[in-house]
Amino acid sequence: MRHRARPADALVIFGVTGDLAHKMIFPALYAMVKRGILDVPIVGVASSKWSAAQLRKRVKDSIRQAGKLDDREALEHLLGLFQYVAGDYNDPGTFHTLKEILGNARRPAYYLAIPPALFATVISSLGADGLADQARVIVEKPFGRDLASARELNRIALSVFAEDSIFRIDHYLGKEAIMNILYFRFANSFLEPIWNRNSVASVQITLSEDFGVNGRGAFYESAGCLRDVIQNHLFQIVALLAMEPPAYQGYGAVHSEKAKVFQAMRPLGPDDVVRGQYAGYRKEPGVARNSDVETFCALRLFIDSWRWEGVPWYLRSGKCLASTVAEVLVELKPPPQKLFDDSVPVAGRANYLRFRLSPNSAVALAARVKRDGKEFVGEQRELFLLDEHPGAETPYERLLSDAMAGDGALFTREDAVEAAWAVVGPVLDTHHRAYPYQPGSWGPKQADALIAGNGTWHNPILEHTEK
Ligand code: BG6
Repeated sequence: MRHRARPADALVIFGVTGDLAHKMIFPALYAMVKRGILDVPIVGVASSKWSAAQLRKRVKDSIRQAGKLDDREALEHLLGLFQYVAGDYNDPGTFHTLKEILGNARRPAYYLAIPPALFATVISSLGADGLADQARVIVEKPFGRDLASARELNRIALSVFAEDSIFRIDHYLGKEAIMNILYFRFANSFLEPIWNRNSVASVQITLSEDFGVNGRGAFYESAGCLRDVIQNHLFQIVALLAMEPPAYQGYGAVHSEKAKVFQAMRPLGPDDVVRGQYAGYRKEPGVARNSDVETFCALRLFIDSWRWEGVPWYLRSGKCLASTVAEVLVELKPPPQKLFDDSVPVAGRANYLRFRLSPNSAVALAARVKRDGKEFVGEQRELFLLDEHPGAETPYERLLSDAMAGDGALFTREDAVEAAWAVVGPVLDTHHRAYPYQPGSWGPKQADALIAGNGTWHNPILEHTEK
Protein backbone atom coordinates (compact mmCIF):
# COMPACT_ATOMS: atom_id res chain seq x y z
CA MET A 1 0.00 0.00 0.00
CA ARG A 2 2.99 2.30 -0.38
CA HIS A 3 3.29 5.17 -2.74
CA ARG A 4 6.27 6.86 -4.41
CA ALA A 5 6.42 10.63 -4.40
CA ARG A 6 9.36 12.99 -4.35
CA PRO A 7 10.47 13.67 -0.78
CA ALA A 8 10.15 17.13 0.78
CA ASP A 9 13.38 19.09 0.68
CA ALA A 10 12.64 21.36 3.68
CA LEU A 11 10.37 21.29 6.71
CA VAL A 12 8.70 24.44 8.01
CA ILE A 13 7.01 24.27 11.41
CA PHE A 14 4.52 27.04 12.13
CA GLY A 15 3.90 27.35 15.86
CA VAL A 16 7.36 26.00 16.65
CA THR A 17 7.41 27.56 20.14
CA GLY A 18 4.17 25.81 21.15
CA ASP A 19 3.30 22.70 23.14
CA LEU A 20 2.74 20.29 20.27
CA ALA A 21 6.21 20.93 18.84
CA HIS A 22 7.77 20.48 22.27
CA LYS A 23 5.89 17.31 23.20
CA MET A 24 5.58 15.49 19.92
CA ILE A 25 7.34 17.02 16.93
CA PHE A 26 10.90 17.53 18.23
CA PRO A 27 11.22 14.00 19.66
CA ALA A 28 9.89 12.63 16.36
CA LEU A 29 12.42 14.66 14.36
CA TYR A 30 15.23 13.49 16.61
CA ALA A 31 14.21 9.87 16.07
CA MET A 32 14.14 10.48 12.31
CA VAL A 33 17.67 11.91 12.38
CA LYS A 34 18.82 8.87 14.36
CA ARG A 35 17.36 6.60 11.70
CA GLY A 36 19.12 8.63 9.03
CA ILE A 37 15.95 9.70 7.23
CA LEU A 38 15.97 13.41 8.02
CA ASP A 39 18.60 15.67 6.60
CA VAL A 40 16.84 18.76 5.22
CA PRO A 41 16.68 22.34 6.50
CA ILE A 42 14.05 22.86 9.23
CA VAL A 43 12.61 26.34 9.63
CA GLY A 44 10.64 27.14 12.78
CA VAL A 45 8.16 30.00 12.57
CA ALA A 46 6.37 31.70 15.48
CA SER A 47 5.55 35.17 16.73
CA SER A 48 7.92 35.16 19.76
CA LYS A 49 11.01 37.25 19.26
CA TRP A 50 13.38 34.36 19.81
CA SER A 51 16.82 33.75 18.39
CA ALA A 52 17.74 30.52 16.59
CA ALA A 53 19.84 29.69 19.67
CA GLN A 54 16.77 29.90 21.91
CA LEU A 55 14.88 27.59 19.61
CA ARG A 56 17.73 25.07 19.63
CA LYS A 57 17.75 25.17 23.42
CA ARG A 58 14.04 24.41 23.41
CA VAL A 59 14.55 21.48 21.04
CA LYS A 60 17.26 20.05 23.29
CA ASP A 61 15.04 20.53 26.33
CA SER A 62 12.16 18.71 24.63
CA ILE A 63 14.28 15.69 23.80
CA ARG A 64 15.74 15.60 27.29
CA GLN A 65 12.23 15.73 28.79
CA ALA A 66 11.07 12.93 26.54
CA GLY A 67 13.89 10.93 28.15
CA LYS A 68 15.48 10.18 24.80
CA LEU A 69 18.79 12.02 24.80
CA ASP A 70 20.93 9.02 23.96
CA ASP A 71 22.77 10.08 20.82
CA ARG A 72 24.69 13.37 21.08
CA GLU A 73 25.82 13.26 17.47
CA ALA A 74 22.24 12.94 16.20
CA LEU A 75 21.15 15.76 18.48
CA GLU A 76 23.91 18.08 17.20
CA HIS A 77 22.97 17.18 13.65
CA LEU A 78 19.30 17.95 14.29
CA LEU A 79 20.09 21.26 15.99
CA GLY A 80 22.26 22.23 13.03
CA LEU A 81 19.27 21.82 10.69
CA PHE A 82 17.15 24.40 12.55
CA GLN A 83 16.59 28.01 11.63
CA TYR A 84 14.07 30.42 13.05
CA VAL A 85 11.77 33.09 11.63
CA ALA A 86 10.02 35.39 14.11
CA GLY A 87 6.96 37.09 12.73
CA ASP A 88 3.27 37.77 12.79
CA TYR A 89 1.24 35.44 10.54
CA ASN A 90 -0.80 38.45 9.39
CA ASP A 91 2.31 40.26 8.19
CA PRO A 92 3.30 39.48 4.57
CA GLY A 93 6.89 40.30 5.61
CA THR A 94 6.99 37.05 7.62
CA PHE A 95 6.40 35.04 4.46
CA HIS A 96 8.92 37.08 2.44
CA THR A 97 11.55 36.25 5.07
CA LEU A 98 10.52 32.61 4.99
CA LYS A 99 10.90 32.56 1.23
CA GLU A 100 14.42 33.95 1.48
CA ILE A 101 15.41 31.40 4.09
CA LEU A 102 13.95 28.55 2.07
CA GLY A 103 16.28 29.59 -0.76
CA ASN A 104 16.55 26.76 -3.24
CA ALA A 105 14.14 24.38 -1.53
CA ARG A 106 11.51 23.41 -4.11
CA ARG A 107 9.26 21.00 -2.21
CA PRO A 108 8.87 22.21 1.36
CA ALA A 109 6.47 20.56 3.81
CA TYR A 110 4.60 23.03 6.02
CA TYR A 111 3.48 21.74 9.39
CA LEU A 112 0.67 23.84 10.87
CA ALA A 113 1.12 23.31 14.62
CA ILE A 114 -1.02 26.39 15.25
CA PRO A 115 -4.60 27.05 16.43
CA PRO A 116 -7.12 26.22 13.69
CA ALA A 117 -8.28 29.85 13.65
CA LEU A 118 -4.93 30.71 12.00
CA PHE A 119 -4.95 27.99 9.32
CA ALA A 120 -6.68 30.14 6.71
CA THR A 121 -4.31 33.09 7.17
CA VAL A 122 -1.18 30.96 6.88
CA ILE A 123 -2.42 28.84 3.97
CA SER A 124 -3.54 31.90 1.98
CA SER A 125 -0.23 33.68 2.58
CA LEU A 126 1.72 30.62 1.44
CA GLY A 127 -0.35 30.63 -1.74
CA ALA A 128 -0.01 34.39 -2.29
CA ASP A 129 3.76 34.30 -1.93
CA GLY A 130 4.26 31.46 -4.40
CA LEU A 131 5.45 29.23 -1.56
CA ALA A 132 2.95 26.47 -2.20
CA ASP A 133 3.90 25.13 -5.65
CA GLN A 134 5.01 21.50 -5.30
CA ALA A 135 4.80 21.93 -1.52
CA ARG A 136 2.68 20.00 0.95
CA VAL A 137 0.88 20.96 4.11
CA ILE A 138 0.49 18.94 7.30
CA VAL A 139 -2.54 19.82 9.42
CA GLU A 140 -3.25 18.74 12.98
CA LYS A 141 -6.61 17.70 14.32
CA PRO A 142 -9.14 19.05 15.17
CA PHE A 143 -9.96 19.47 11.51
CA GLY A 144 -12.91 21.80 11.97
CA ARG A 145 -15.37 21.74 14.86
CA ASP A 146 -18.43 20.80 12.83
CA LEU A 147 -19.38 20.09 9.23
CA ALA A 148 -19.55 23.74 8.17
CA SER A 149 -16.13 24.67 9.57
CA ALA A 150 -14.51 21.49 8.20
CA ARG A 151 -15.90 22.30 4.76
CA GLU A 152 -14.60 25.83 4.98
CA LEU A 153 -11.15 24.58 6.03
CA ASN A 154 -11.10 22.09 3.19
CA ARG A 155 -12.14 24.81 0.76
CA ILE A 156 -9.30 27.07 1.88
CA ALA A 157 -6.71 24.30 1.89
CA LEU A 158 -7.80 23.06 -1.54
CA SER A 159 -7.67 26.57 -3.00
CA VAL A 160 -3.90 26.46 -2.49
CA PHE A 161 -2.87 22.77 -2.25
CA ALA A 162 -3.96 19.67 -4.17
CA GLU A 163 -5.76 17.03 -2.07
CA ASP A 164 -2.77 14.67 -2.28
CA SER A 165 -0.54 17.43 -0.90
CA ILE A 166 -2.71 17.89 2.20
CA PHE A 167 -1.79 15.61 5.11
CA ARG A 168 -4.48 15.68 7.81
CA ILE A 169 -3.10 14.04 10.93
CA ASP A 170 -5.08 11.68 13.10
CA HIS A 171 -2.26 10.19 15.14
CA TYR A 172 -4.31 7.03 15.83
CA LEU A 173 -3.74 6.01 12.22
CA GLY A 174 -0.01 5.90 12.91
CA LYS A 175 -0.40 3.40 15.75
CA GLU A 176 0.89 -0.09 15.16
CA ALA A 177 -2.19 -1.84 16.60
CA ILE A 178 -4.55 0.23 14.48
CA MET A 179 -2.58 -0.39 11.29
CA ASN A 180 -2.85 -4.06 12.18
CA ILE A 181 -6.66 -3.93 11.96
CA LEU A 182 -6.44 -3.26 8.22
CA TYR A 183 -3.78 -5.91 7.77
CA PHE A 184 -5.50 -8.51 9.92
CA ARG A 185 -8.80 -8.08 8.12
CA PHE A 186 -7.49 -8.32 4.58
CA ALA A 187 -4.41 -10.52 4.90
CA ASN A 188 -6.57 -13.42 6.16
CA SER A 189 -9.45 -15.25 4.56
CA PHE A 190 -10.97 -16.98 7.59
CA LEU A 191 -12.48 -13.77 8.87
CA GLU A 192 -14.50 -12.61 5.90
CA PRO A 193 -17.32 -15.20 6.09
CA ILE A 194 -18.17 -14.18 9.67
CA TRP A 195 -17.40 -10.48 9.40
CA ASN A 196 -20.91 -9.24 8.85
CA ARG A 197 -24.45 -9.01 10.21
CA ASN A 198 -24.94 -12.78 10.01
CA SER A 199 -22.36 -13.59 12.66
CA VAL A 200 -21.52 -10.35 14.46
CA ALA A 201 -23.90 -9.41 17.29
CA SER A 202 -22.31 -6.11 18.23
CA VAL A 203 -19.04 -4.20 18.25
CA GLN A 204 -17.71 -2.22 21.19
CA ILE A 205 -14.81 0.21 21.27
CA THR A 206 -13.52 1.66 24.53
CA LEU A 207 -10.83 4.31 24.79
CA SER A 208 -10.43 5.15 28.45
CA GLU A 209 -7.92 7.32 30.29
CA ASP A 210 -7.34 7.38 34.02
CA PHE A 211 -6.29 11.05 34.05
CA GLY A 212 -8.24 14.29 33.70
CA VAL A 213 -7.84 17.19 31.32
CA ASN A 214 -4.28 17.79 32.57
CA GLY A 215 -4.19 21.56 32.32
CA ARG A 216 -6.04 21.60 28.98
CA GLY A 217 -9.30 22.76 30.56
CA ALA A 218 -9.73 25.76 28.25
CA PHE A 219 -9.20 23.60 25.15
CA TYR A 220 -11.52 20.93 26.49
CA GLU A 221 -14.26 23.48 27.12
CA SER A 222 -14.27 24.23 23.39
CA ALA A 223 -14.09 20.58 22.39
CA GLY A 224 -15.54 17.94 24.75
CA CYS A 225 -15.02 14.21 24.37
CA LEU A 226 -17.17 13.79 21.25
CA ARG A 227 -15.12 16.30 19.26
CA ASP A 228 -11.80 15.48 20.91
CA VAL A 229 -11.55 11.75 20.30
CA ILE A 230 -14.79 10.18 19.04
CA GLN A 231 -15.42 11.97 15.73
CA ASN A 232 -11.81 11.27 14.77
CA HIS A 233 -9.86 8.54 16.61
CA LEU A 234 -12.77 6.20 17.39
CA PHE A 235 -14.49 6.76 14.07
CA GLN A 236 -11.26 5.92 12.24
CA ILE A 237 -11.16 2.62 14.12
CA VAL A 238 -14.79 1.94 13.18
CA ALA A 239 -14.00 2.65 9.54
CA LEU A 240 -11.10 0.18 9.48
CA LEU A 241 -13.24 -2.49 11.14
CA ALA A 242 -16.30 -1.90 8.98
CA MET A 243 -14.91 -1.10 5.51
CA GLU A 244 -15.27 -3.28 2.44
CA PRO A 245 -12.11 -4.76 0.91
CA PRO A 246 -10.22 -2.10 -1.03
CA ALA A 247 -10.56 -2.55 -4.78
CA TYR A 248 -6.83 -2.38 -5.50
CA GLN A 249 -3.50 -2.14 -3.77
CA GLY A 250 -3.09 1.54 -3.17
CA TYR A 251 -4.05 3.87 -0.40
CA GLY A 252 -6.61 5.74 -2.50
CA ALA A 253 -8.72 2.57 -2.46
CA VAL A 254 -8.54 2.35 1.34
CA HIS A 255 -9.53 6.00 1.68
CA SER A 256 -12.51 5.47 -0.61
CA GLU A 257 -13.79 2.47 1.34
CA LYS A 258 -13.36 4.28 4.66
CA ALA A 259 -15.26 7.29 3.37
CA LYS A 260 -18.14 4.99 2.35
CA VAL A 261 -18.41 3.73 5.94
CA PHE A 262 -18.88 7.27 7.26
CA GLN A 263 -21.40 7.97 4.50
CA ALA A 264 -23.38 4.88 5.54
CA MET A 265 -23.43 5.78 9.24
CA ARG A 266 -26.82 6.84 10.51
CA PRO A 267 -26.64 10.42 11.88
CA LEU A 268 -26.78 10.33 15.68
CA GLY A 269 -29.78 11.48 17.68
CA PRO A 270 -29.77 12.69 21.31
CA ASP A 271 -30.99 9.30 22.60
CA ASP A 272 -28.01 7.53 20.99
CA VAL A 273 -25.58 9.45 23.17
CA VAL A 274 -24.84 9.47 26.91
CA ARG A 275 -22.60 12.27 28.06
CA GLY A 276 -20.83 12.40 31.41
CA GLN A 277 -18.61 14.74 33.37
CA TYR A 278 -16.21 13.68 36.11
CA ALA A 279 -16.69 15.16 39.56
CA GLY A 280 -14.11 17.90 39.96
CA TYR A 281 -13.93 18.89 36.28
CA ARG A 282 -15.58 22.25 36.97
CA LYS A 283 -12.74 23.12 39.36
CA GLU A 284 -10.06 22.62 36.69
CA PRO A 285 -8.33 25.82 35.48
CA GLY A 286 -10.00 27.26 32.40
CA VAL A 287 -13.29 25.42 33.02
CA ALA A 288 -16.61 27.22 33.58
CA ARG A 289 -18.17 26.69 37.02
CA ASN A 290 -21.42 25.59 35.39
CA SER A 291 -19.86 23.75 32.45
CA ASP A 292 -21.93 21.08 30.74
CA VAL A 293 -19.02 19.93 28.56
CA GLU A 294 -18.65 16.14 28.47
CA THR A 295 -15.47 14.43 29.66
CA PHE A 296 -17.12 11.07 28.91
CA CYS A 297 -19.21 10.03 25.98
CA ALA A 298 -20.85 6.73 25.10
CA LEU A 299 -22.83 6.23 21.94
CA ARG A 300 -24.72 3.71 19.88
CA LEU A 301 -24.15 3.82 16.18
CA PHE A 302 -25.56 2.03 13.15
CA ILE A 303 -23.99 1.60 9.76
CA ASP A 304 -26.73 1.26 7.18
CA SER A 305 -24.87 -0.94 4.74
CA TRP A 306 -25.46 -4.41 3.30
CA ARG A 307 -22.80 -5.84 5.59
CA TRP A 308 -23.71 -4.15 8.87
CA GLU A 309 -27.48 -3.57 8.77
CA GLY A 310 -28.91 -3.95 12.28
CA VAL A 311 -25.55 -4.45 14.06
CA PRO A 312 -25.09 -1.94 16.90
CA TRP A 313 -21.70 -0.33 17.37
CA TYR A 314 -21.05 0.97 20.88
CA LEU A 315 -18.33 3.56 21.33
CA ARG A 316 -17.16 4.89 24.65
CA SER A 317 -14.40 7.20 25.79
CA GLY A 318 -13.64 9.33 28.81
CA LYS A 319 -11.17 11.00 31.11
CA CYS A 320 -10.69 10.04 34.77
CA LEU A 321 -11.96 6.51 34.19
CA ALA A 322 -10.76 3.29 35.80
CA SER A 323 -7.71 2.73 33.58
CA THR A 324 -5.81 3.91 30.53
CA VAL A 325 -6.53 1.39 27.84
CA ALA A 326 -8.06 1.08 24.38
CA GLU A 327 -9.79 -2.04 23.15
CA VAL A 328 -12.24 -3.33 20.55
CA LEU A 329 -14.57 -6.24 21.23
CA VAL A 330 -16.38 -7.82 18.31
CA GLU A 331 -18.99 -10.10 19.85
CA LEU A 332 -20.30 -12.94 17.73
CA LYS A 333 -23.79 -14.38 17.79
CA PRO A 334 -24.35 -17.42 20.02
CA PRO A 335 -24.96 -20.83 18.41
CA PRO A 336 -28.53 -21.10 17.08
CA GLN A 337 -29.47 -23.99 19.39
CA LYS A 338 -28.87 -24.47 23.11
CA LEU A 339 -27.36 -27.97 23.16
CA PHE A 340 -25.48 -27.68 26.47
CA ASP A 341 -26.56 -26.44 29.86
CA ASP A 342 -23.93 -23.76 29.90
CA SER A 343 -24.49 -22.55 26.34
CA VAL A 344 -24.51 -18.83 25.82
CA PRO A 345 -26.41 -16.69 26.83
CA VAL A 346 -26.48 -18.52 30.21
CA ALA A 347 -22.70 -18.47 30.45
CA GLY A 348 -22.12 -14.78 29.70
CA ARG A 349 -20.42 -13.51 26.60
CA ALA A 350 -20.56 -15.37 23.32
CA ASN A 351 -17.42 -15.96 21.27
CA TYR A 352 -15.61 -12.80 20.42
CA LEU A 353 -12.60 -11.28 18.78
CA ARG A 354 -10.73 -8.76 20.86
CA PHE A 355 -8.28 -6.16 19.58
CA ARG A 356 -6.20 -4.51 22.29
CA LEU A 357 -5.03 -1.23 20.84
CA SER A 358 -3.20 0.35 23.74
CA PRO A 359 -1.03 0.24 25.84
CA ASN A 360 -0.02 -3.01 24.09
CA SER A 361 -1.11 -4.55 20.83
CA ALA A 362 -3.03 -7.82 20.96
CA VAL A 363 -5.54 -9.83 18.97
CA ALA A 364 -7.37 -12.59 20.80
CA LEU A 365 -10.09 -14.95 19.67
CA ALA A 366 -12.35 -16.33 22.40
CA ALA A 367 -14.06 -19.69 22.02
CA ARG A 368 -15.62 -22.18 24.42
CA VAL A 369 -13.89 -25.49 25.14
CA LYS A 370 -15.03 -28.39 27.27
CA ARG A 371 -13.68 -28.79 30.77
CA ASP A 372 -12.29 -32.18 31.93
CA GLY A 373 -14.94 -34.58 33.12
CA LYS A 374 -18.11 -36.39 32.26
CA GLU A 375 -20.30 -33.30 32.05
CA PHE A 376 -20.63 -31.25 28.88
CA VAL A 377 -19.69 -27.99 30.48
CA GLY A 378 -16.84 -25.74 29.56
CA GLU A 379 -15.41 -22.30 29.58
CA GLN A 380 -14.43 -19.54 27.26
CA ARG A 381 -10.70 -19.42 26.51
CA GLU A 382 -8.72 -16.90 24.54
CA LEU A 383 -6.42 -17.86 21.74
CA PHE A 384 -3.80 -15.15 21.42
CA LEU A 385 -2.93 -14.41 17.83
CA LEU A 386 -0.69 -11.50 18.65
CA ASP A 387 0.60 -9.97 21.84
CA GLU A 388 3.19 -7.29 21.50
CA HIS A 389 4.46 -4.19 23.15
CA PRO A 390 5.21 -1.95 20.21
CA GLY A 391 7.50 0.94 20.87
CA ALA A 392 9.99 1.26 18.07
CA GLU A 393 8.32 4.01 16.07
CA THR A 394 5.93 6.51 17.64
CA PRO A 395 2.87 7.60 15.63
CA TYR A 396 4.29 11.10 15.17
CA GLU A 397 7.58 9.77 13.92
CA ARG A 398 5.81 7.51 11.45
CA LEU A 399 3.34 10.15 10.27
CA LEU A 400 5.93 12.89 9.92
CA SER A 401 8.26 10.68 7.92
CA ASP A 402 5.35 9.61 5.70
CA ALA A 403 4.27 13.20 5.10
CA MET A 404 7.84 14.21 4.29
CA ALA A 405 8.04 11.29 1.86
CA GLY A 406 4.68 12.22 0.33
CA ASP A 407 2.94 9.00 1.39
CA GLY A 408 -0.68 9.76 2.30
CA ALA A 409 -1.78 6.26 3.34
CA LEU A 410 -2.09 7.05 7.05
CA PHE A 411 -3.84 10.40 6.72
CA THR A 412 -7.48 11.33 6.40
CA ARG A 413 -9.18 12.47 3.22
CA GLU A 414 -11.47 15.46 2.76
CA ASP A 415 -14.64 13.48 2.03
CA ALA A 416 -14.13 11.16 5.02
CA VAL A 417 -13.59 14.02 7.47
CA GLU A 418 -16.72 15.78 6.27
CA ALA A 419 -18.85 12.63 6.32
CA ALA A 420 -17.74 11.92 9.91
CA TRP A 421 -18.79 15.41 10.97
CA ALA A 422 -22.17 14.88 9.31
CA VAL A 423 -22.77 11.84 11.57
CA VAL A 424 -22.09 13.66 14.85
CA GLY A 425 -23.51 17.01 13.66
CA PRO A 426 -27.06 16.55 15.01
CA VAL A 427 -25.83 15.93 18.59
CA LEU A 428 -23.04 18.51 18.85
CA ASP A 429 -25.42 21.07 20.32
CA THR A 430 -28.65 19.14 20.81
CA HIS A 431 -28.13 16.59 23.57
CA HIS A 432 -29.12 15.59 27.07
CA ARG A 433 -27.22 17.13 29.96
CA ALA A 434 -23.95 15.54 31.04
CA TYR A 435 -24.35 13.13 34.00
CA PRO A 436 -21.78 13.36 36.80
CA TYR A 437 -19.50 10.37 37.49
CA GLN A 438 -16.83 9.54 40.02
CA PRO A 439 -13.18 9.59 38.95
CA GLY A 440 -11.88 6.02 38.80
CA SER A 441 -15.24 4.58 37.68
CA TRP A 442 -16.32 3.49 34.19
CA GLY A 443 -18.48 6.59 33.72
CA PRO A 444 -22.11 7.36 34.54
CA LYS A 445 -24.43 4.38 35.00
CA GLN A 446 -26.78 5.83 32.36
CA ALA A 447 -24.29 4.50 29.79
CA ASP A 448 -25.27 0.97 30.86
CA ALA A 449 -28.84 1.59 29.78
CA LEU A 450 -27.62 2.49 26.28
CA ILE A 451 -26.21 -0.99 25.75
CA ALA A 452 -28.72 -2.91 27.88
CA GLY A 453 -30.58 -4.49 24.95
CA ASN A 454 -27.34 -6.07 23.73
CA GLY A 455 -25.42 -7.14 26.81
CA THR A 456 -23.01 -5.16 28.92
CA TRP A 457 -20.00 -2.98 28.43
CA HIS A 458 -16.75 -4.82 28.25
CA ASN A 459 -14.32 -3.14 30.66
CA PRO A 460 -10.80 -3.96 29.45
CA ILE A 461 -8.57 -5.42 32.12
CA LEU A 462 -4.93 -4.45 32.31
CA GLU A 463 -2.62 -7.26 33.35
CA HIS A 464 -0.19 -6.24 36.03
CA THR A 465 2.67 -6.26 33.54
CA GLU A 466 0.83 -3.91 31.19
CA LYS A 467 0.46 -1.07 33.69
C1 BG6 B 1 -5.70 13.42 21.61
C2 BG6 B 1 -6.72 14.06 22.49
O1 BG6 B 1 -6.03 13.60 20.25
O2 BG6 B 1 -5.64 12.02 21.88
C3 BG6 B 1 -6.41 13.80 23.95
O3 BG6 B 1 -6.75 15.46 22.26
C4 BG6 B 1 -6.24 12.31 24.20
O4 BG6 B 1 -7.43 14.32 24.80
C5 BG6 B 1 -5.26 11.72 23.20
O5 BG6 B 1 -5.76 12.13 25.52
C6 BG6 B 1 -5.16 10.22 23.31
O6 BG6 B 1 -4.07 9.78 22.54
P1 BG6 B 1 -3.18 8.55 22.98
O7 BG6 B 1 -2.24 8.33 21.83
O8 BG6 B 1 -2.46 8.96 24.22
O9 BG6 B 1 -4.11 7.41 23.22
